[in-house]
Amino acid sequence: MTSADIRQSFLTFFREKQHRIVDSAPVVPHDDPTLLFTNAGMNQFKDVFLDLGTREYTRAADTQKCIRVSGKHNDLEEVGRDTYHHTFFEMLGNWSFGDYYKREAISWAWELLTEVWKLPKERLHATVYQDDDEALALWTEVTDIDPAHVHRFGAKDNFWEMGDTGPCGPCSEIHIDMTENGDGGPLVNAGVPEVMEIWNLVFIQYNRDEQGVLHDLPKKHIDTGMGFERICAVMQGKRSNYDTDVFMPVIDRIAEVTGQPYEGEQRQVSMRVIADHVRMLTFSIADGAIPGSEGRGYVLRRILRRAARFGRNLGVREPFLWSIVGTLCDTMGDVFPEIVENRHVVEKVIRAEEESFNATLDRGLEIFEDIVARTKKAGGTVIDGADVFRLYDTFGFPLDLTNLLAEEHGLTIDGVRFDALLSEQKKRSRAVTKKNVVFPTAGGSGAIQLDLLDGAPAGTEFTGYESFTSEATVTGLRKIGEDLFILLDYTPFYVESGGQVSDQGQLVWNGVSAAVEGLIKADGGVIHAVKADASFAPQLGDTVQAQVDVRSRRDTMRNHTATHLLHAALRTVLGTHVQQAGSLVDPEHLRFDFSHYEKVSDEQLEAIETLVNEKILEGIPVQQHRAIPFDDAKTMGALMFFGDKYGDVVNVLQVDQFSMEFCGGTHVHNTAEIGLLKITSEGSVASGTRRIEAVTGRGVAQYIERMHEQLAERRRHEAALHDEIKRLEKELSKLSVEQGASQIDSILGAAEEWNGSRIAVARMQAGDAEQLKGIGDVLREKLHSGVGLLADVVDGKVLLVCVVTDDLVAKGVKAGALVGLIAKRLGGGGGGRPHMATAGAKDTESLDAVLAEAPAIIREAATT
Ligand code: ALA
Repeated sequence: MTSADIRQSFLTFFREKQHRIVDSAPVVPHDDPTLLFTNAGMNQFKDVFLDLGTREYTRAADTQKCIRVSGKHNDLEEVGRDTYHHTFFEMLGNWSFGDYYKREAISWAWELLTEVWKLPKERLHATVYQDDDEALALWTEVTDIDPAHVHRFGAKDNFWEMGDTGPCGPCSEIHIDMTENGDGGPLVNAGVPEVMEIWNLVFIQYNRDEQGVLHDLPKKHIDTGMGFERICAVMQGKRSNYDTDVFMPVIDRIAEVTGQPYEGEQRQVSMRVIADHVRMLTFSIADGAIPGSEGRGYVLRRILRRAARFGRNLGVREPFLWSIVGTLCDTMGDVFPEIVENRHVVEKVIRAEEESFNATLDRGLEIFEDIVARTKKAGGTVIDGADVFRLYDTFGFPLDLTNLLAEEHGLTIDGVRFDALLSEQKKRSRAVTKKNVVFPTAGGSGAIQLDLLDGAPAGTEFTGYESFTSEATVTGLRKIGEDLFILLDYTPFYVESGGQVSDQGQLVWNGVSAAVEGLIKADGGVIHAVKADASFAPQLGDTVQAQVDVRSRRDTMRNHTATHLLHAALRTVLGTHVQQAGSLVDPEHLRFDFSHYEKVSDEQLEAIETLVNEKILEGIPVQQHRAIPFDDAKTMGALMFFGDKYGDVVNVLQVDQFSMEFCGGTHVHNTAEIGLLKITSEGSVASGTRRIEAVTGRGVAQYIERMHEQLAERRRHEAALHDEIKRLEKELSKLSVEQGASQIDSILGAAEEWNGSRIAVARMQAGDAEQLKGIGDVLREKLHSGVGLLADVVDGKVLLVCVVTDDLVAKGVKAGALVGLIAKRLGGGGGGRPHMATAGAKDTESLDAVLAEAPAIIREAATT
């Protein structure tokens, strides 16, 4: 049976047993923050098991795309080294939601395996949870399994849980014995490929809560999962999953692009790793994940780097992983059309990531070799954590890659020191941010805490969503050096957070005002730093007016709301893989960093800008949902990103159905207030991260003004340039006439005497007819009495100019007639006035010969 037949016969079997065949859920779960990747078929039914949701059916079956990269269910380091673990795999499953239970689940599984697929009964084993007498009895009651092949195991093997929390229950697994003599019973659950689990039947009956306590579920359910790649290997009589028709086309493609055969342990491991990892990358990127430096993105990046590194083992230095995606589209695209639809994106993302990794890999590998040599020379076996950190920090080597490389040299790494260095670095960068951004100007006094203040410092209430000015009481006070730190009970001043910069403004006391030079948020209080000054001396308990600079704050609000519109427009135009990676919003402009794998084209930028401006012109009310429960925000559909931490109570900013995001910043009340948005630049900040800068409102006006000035300046410049060109042209023509004229003397020297007159003939390089005529004029003058004939070849054609002095004209010699005669010999013609005529002709080849005869022709013509 082909793998396609196996998949289909599983689904058909359960359809005939009244199961609804459903689609696989995306491998990237978009609505379960407890989950990095979909790791089992039951994920999409978690709500049904927990009695939080329902379906219109009570029996279902499907093939589910799953990813297991770490933790409970898999070990990344093992993938590819053995032949039956994968990061990405398909799980065939059937479910009962409070419908059938253990009896049917066991009997149908047996029926499919032994009657439909005809697997040898004597090679099948079943395991049950140690206390599950019911399942144990059912195996011998409803099937004809050898009773000696039913085994009890403990919770480690026979109690299945989705994760640390969630639906769970005892399970019964079916294993197949592929040992030579079929006596592998004792090897069940021993972790050997010869005796392998193929199907897990879970009897879901509990929910485990965060404290680890099990609660009975209202109903009992069935959740089964069969490893598709494994069952294909069994059915196709293969020892390795990679030898089945699921993987062989992919392996063949890898062999093709690397130019290496799938032979030899080393090469086989490398190819298996690559085959597995490219599947994982393809499916996860197609479902919206993207390599990055955090959370899910980081898992993708690690997987890609691991695959690229094994590519090096096969001698490939160029990006090549992307070129395997097409094979997956060919072999799996009919079951999972999303990979075909997104093929282009997947290939690009993988390729871009490979490219950026390759560059550092080369350099890093050199460094690594030095480190190994140094370590070995010193007689050590452990690579210094500082070296590991350097490889990580400067060359982007993930820890497991360095580990892997070290292993190959029989070394280990000092992970403890590495961790310490990493956390030190994180601390340092946090400190830098704090100093530079939060508190830039207060005389270098550095951070200040509430307990440094005099008075009874308490928290501050932010009034700045509604007002720009507040009356407030001084609740804490301290003068340090040049700075006076003032804590207020209320403040309209926004303190830098979420990318929005701190407000500017002033405090007014007793009619005297002091500019706020810095703002610090400490323990829920907002401290305002002003320059200490004798005339501004509020005391504890005094009232001050806190006034935010309205103009700059309004500009900031415009930019902040526009940032949300921009984000939504990016996701609309470029795709939902776009995620915010950072932002800066100040009165002058906005800056938005986001994940995207290539340059945003001019057309895309235009589409993005147009979309944002449409939303601005529509004048949509901006809704700020403040301090609402997190769950409500989730239900509303607020944009959440995996790995971000959200509190129990959150702020959500909503612009109609277009944009809904978590945000505690300050915003305009209606999009129309933004005025207009203009993108001013687009570029790259890091691999896979792009940056857009833009202006709004007043900023756009200034931008237009600037453009206008530049345009006017350019026009002025162009006009001046034009004049200059004219002048130079004139100069040039004068020069070449002069240059021609200087040749005239030599022409005259070579002229023939003719009855007291002269005949001068010459071939010139004048460049064009006007120049040639100019030279003709000079020649005519200098001849005093005579005929002159000048020739040139311009643009592949012969140009002729003939001049005749007045005395000869008076005698009836005509330049027009003479030039006509000559031109005729060259396949052309012409004419003009008696003293000056021009002609054109084609035959450039004969020009010299005809010129040699010209004096004779002229003589003859002039005398007759
Ligand atoms: N949910 C069960 C598993 O993943 C079937 O093994």
